[in-house]
Amino acid sequence: MVRQSPGGGRVRLIVACAATVAVLGPLVWLWQDSLLPEPYSVMDMGYADYGGGPHGSSGHETHAPGGASARGGHGPGRDVTQLTADAGRRADVSMTMVARKQRFRLPSGRAFDGYTLNGQSPGPVIKATKGQLVQVRLINESVPGGVTLHWHGVDVPNAEDGVAGVTQDAVGVGKEFTYRFIADQAGTFWYHSHQMSHEQVRGGLLGALVVEPGPREVTDVVALVHLYNGVRTVNGREGDVQVEAKPGARARIRVINTEYGVMPAWVGGAPYRLVAVDGTELNGPAPVTGKALAIAAGGRADIEVTMPENGSPVRIHLGGPTGVVLGSSSYDAPPAPRPAATLDVLTYGTPAPLGFDPGRPDRRFEYDMGRRPGFLDGVPGVWWTINGHLYPDVPMFHVAEGDVVRMRVSNDSGEAHPMHLHGHHAVVLSRDGVPASGSPWWVDSLEVGAGESYEIAFVADNPGIWMDHCHNLPHAAEGLVTHLMYEGVTTRFTVGGPAANEPE
Ligand code: C2O
Ligand code: CU
Repeated sequence: MVRQSPGGGRVRLIVACAATVAVLGPLVWLWQDSLLPEPYSVMDMGYADYGGGPHGSSGHETHAPGGASARGGHGPGRDVTQLTADAGRRADVSMTMVARKQRFRLPSGRAFDGYTLNGQSPGPVIKATKGQLVQVRLINESVPGGVTLHWHGVDVPNAEDGVAGVTQDAVGVGKEFTYRFIADQAGTFWYHSHQMSHEQVRGGLLGALVVEPGPREVTDVVALVHLYNGVRTVNGREGDVQVEAKPGARARIRVINTEYGVMPAWVGGAPYRLVAVDGTELNGPAPVTGKALAIAAGGRADIEVTMPENGSPVRIHLGGPTGVVLGSSSYDAPPAPRPAATLDVLTYGTPAPLGFDPGRPDRRFEYDMGRRPGFLDGVPGVWWTINGHLYPDVPMFHVAEGDVVRMRVSNDSGEAHPMHLHGHHAVVLSRDGVPASGSPWWVDSLEVGAGESYEIAFVADNPGIWMDHCHNLPHAAEGLVTHLMYEGVTTRFTVGGPAANEPE
């Protein structure tokens, strides 16, 4: 039997308290450390990563944490609002878009509570010819949290990028904002709100943007795929979209994946060619049969089909049994089974010069995605990490204008992530160490599967502060976001604040 000394109870209490403090103390510290200041500037976020390049003055060091001193924009740098398109030039394509929160009906009659632009979702298709200046006046009639428009895949000047809290304030009810940019790349793009985007994009605040190279003799079809309450639509319609295409005619189908996950697409009734990815033409694309495409969330694939001479219709499957049916005398195209094989763009087409040398980069960055337990703005969970760090303590990739940048994007998080860099197109150099051997493969939305690792490269030729995030937008809202920062560029906008900016 153990005889208890009179003070034993107190000692045990002290030990227990000390143990509790030892366990909870660091947790409380971690919790408190994870709380986001209100408001905060992305310039004060995380830690600078110079990628082995010079440490220029980006304004980052000159601001106190908390974002207060970031207001006013009279630092040594250029404020993002100065990075605009040719201010004196007249618009070639000009339109007004009125954003509303409303209940509306799909053409099938099915009702949906979401968002419209000019009374419709998807919003109007914006069409321009390469080189034209596009001007869009956005008016927020009734979207309570505010709206913006981001031109996904268009390398616009930074002030036009539409990211609430980074390049502008969210446009509140009764307010407006005018976007201007030169459509200097022909291709398939889209636009969507970048305020509370995970909710507003799902709710339909989006549309297609097509930049034509000039007059062309092909049937041109936009096929924007979106899910409304889980109901798959093409251009807002359930079921097939029928398009007339004469025997022997060439047709280009511009597929836009606005969903949050990768989408398969395949063709029944004719071979096809994948002629462009993310708004960039591929070089030497050969006819494909028996393979599906995998289109990343946010990504685009332009599919070209030559109609059979016998007049039989062609079905382009978009994510399932329905999609676009091309035909003339008949649209009776039975569904084709989904091919087991997927076209690998890494080896598709033929090589061509890149226009720059990625072999001697000025900066090398790692963008390694993982997942671990921790606190995100005070909320415990298993959260995404970037290079082992939880948002907002993530790397900020610093570059100077003209730098050649290489980035290794790797994914150890156990889930796929469609990675989207704003303002730039990057070329894929390798996947899992296997060099690209086909056409130059330029992307703005790259599906990085679990366990995969891509090496990409780009030229830093568009000064600004650019988001680089996962386009599975709920993941972005969960902190899978960082920024590419140009030396000498500052922003006076903040996340939070009076405009309640909330980009993700
Ligand atoms: Cu399509 Cu940052 O988004
Ligand atoms: Cu993701």
